[in-house]
Amino acid sequence: MCGIIGYTGEKQAQPILLNGLAKLEYRGYDSCGIAIAAGDIAVYKDAVRVEALKKASPKLTGTSGIGHTRWATHGAPSQINAHPHLDCNGEIAVVHNGVINNYQELRNRLIEEGHTFVSETDTEVIAHLIEKYYGGNLEEAIESAVAEMEGSYTIIVLIKGESGLAVVRKESPLIIGLGDKENFVSSDVPAILDYTDRVIYLEDGDIGFITRNSIKVKSAGKEVKREEHKILWNVEEAQKSGYEHFLLKEIHEQPKVIRNTLGEYTREAEPVTDTFGMESADMESMLILACGTSYYASLVGKYIIEELLRIPVRVEPASEFNYFGHTLAGGVSLAILQSGETADTLRAMKKLKESGHKVIAITNVVGSTASRIASHTVYTRAGPEISVAATKTFMAQLMALYWLALSFSRLGTRKLSSLRNELRQMPGKVQQVLDGEESIVEHARYLSRFENVFFIGRGMNYPIALEGALKLKEISYIHAEGYAAGELKHGPFALLGTDTPVIAIVPGDNTYEAMLTNIKEIKARGSPVIALAEEGNETIEELVDRVITVPRVNPLFTPVVNIVALQLLAYHTARERGCSIDYPRNLAKSVTVE
Ligand code: AGP
Repeated sequence: MCGIIGYTGEKQAQPILLNGLAKLEYRGYDSCGIAIAAGDIAVYKDAVRVEALKKASPKLTGTSGIGHTRWATHGAPSQINAHPHLDCNGEIAVVHNGVINNYQELRNRLIEEGHTFVSETDTEVIAHLIEKYYGGNLEEAIESAVAEMEGSYTIIVLIKGESGLAVVRKESPLIIGLGDKENFVSSDVPAILDYTDRVIYLEDGDIGFITRNSIKVKSAGKEVKREEHKILWNVEEAQKSGYEHFLLKEIHEQPKVIRNTLGEYTREAEPVTDTFGMESADMESMLILACGTSYYASLVGKYIIEELLRIPVRVEPASEFNYFGHTLAGGVSLAILQSGETADTLRAMKKLKESGHKVIAITNVVGSTASRIASHTVYTRAGPEISVAATKTFMAQLMALYWLALSFSRLGTRKLSSLRNELRQMPGKVQQVLDGEESIVEHARYLSRFENVFFIGRGMNYPIALEGALKLKEISYIHAEGYAAGELKHGPFALLGTDTPVIAIVPGDNTYEAMLTNIKEIKARGSPVIALAEEGNETIEELVDRVITVPRVNPLFTPVVNIVALQLLAYHTARERGCSIDYPRNLAKSVTVE
């Protein structure tokens, strides 16, 4: 994880670095720091959030600099362990995203050679290694240091007396933003979007040397040309635009996200059949790999695809598959990851490719590592998602899965066309849920008093119960568990009682009667029940304590409206409890470690 940024140009670097770091905080935020070159290298860092660093840091003058916001791996969050890290003489500063696997061995050797270390981090060895090899030739020093490092190390290096920055990309993202007499480097687009929309995506193993007027990229010792791309996201999308939190803004953006994502896969109202890089012949079975919220989207996908295509779909968390997953050689598989950088999913993709699979990635980030590994990439159009908790990217993933299933389904043309039309009505249905936000605020106030909550659902709303529970736990810190409704009686009933509410997802589909039975069993054991039910359902009100109403939709699309209500419930519960909603403790948005 971690966010890194660099600037070299004619302007003062400090405000550019600090503004950029604030936009990269979703990648880690336990400490942060900057280094600026103006003759000597000045460093200011601390175990604080970027806003606090902005207020506390003295004015550092200089037009080249680097910055970092950290998600600790080696060494607790502290001022000493915060990046940038320096060599012995304070003339080489490094920021790093990744993990140096052989850092202990390198550190021991460098200490024997006379280097003094001050932090517990793996990153500090990079500064000392470069120091060891630097005799005035920057390229040679970086290449020699890199040759000794094992692991993942996307770095930016600032050296006293050198004009500009050196960068290396290894297994974490790095982009170069192109300006006029200035250039930028960053882990991600939002950090530089205020200044430029022209970028170069570095590839794994690339080493770059960047001055205000030039970019030189080398791969395997040879100079290479990397294509320039124009960013389609706009500044507005990466700002709060009047909302109190990014999360709330992102929840509210979902009608637009549905329209944009479906629009991406449709031309003149018809599906674009080659969108998914698959053919009907590939559709005998399917394997989907993902993590976290993307894993839950994949589970919804399993129900959708099995329903519409009548083929078996296997879904596994990528982290499990990497150690225990067996596959037949060949075939087509899907990897779903909003960031395009999740280490576990990338590793699973590589494993599948090695066994001859064609791997299709569904991701939200153009130029991400996943898109480089995949045989084919399907982009979701959620726009930048800043809040650590995923909401609109989950919705966009659902849309990709619905459209995939509807594109390959063997149902009759009329039925398919009617389902596609219903799916296109979803922005309006989601808007209806959003319009009912006030009533959800009141339910959230009630929920915020509890410390344990169950979410239950059946069929394709079972993964929605899992995702609803994940949203609540990660942003409100209430212990929440998602369960298949029929499973609750096989053990968890022991935990039911007046202090353990159950949130029951009760669509009017073929799970309805079974859900009512489960609700009665739960009520008999004293737990308060909040039902998520369709408008017009009056029966439910007599059975439960509270009802959150969602619009009536085709049973196939109930996850779409239900998840939005649960996102709002989690958001307002967390707000009521005064939590750090966009940046929950201990988390990072892009999990680039195993
Ligand atoms: C969910 O709110 C989290 N942000 C997390 O579970 C996330 O979905 C997971 O880390 C996977 O991320 P990815 O989609 O980028 O692979």
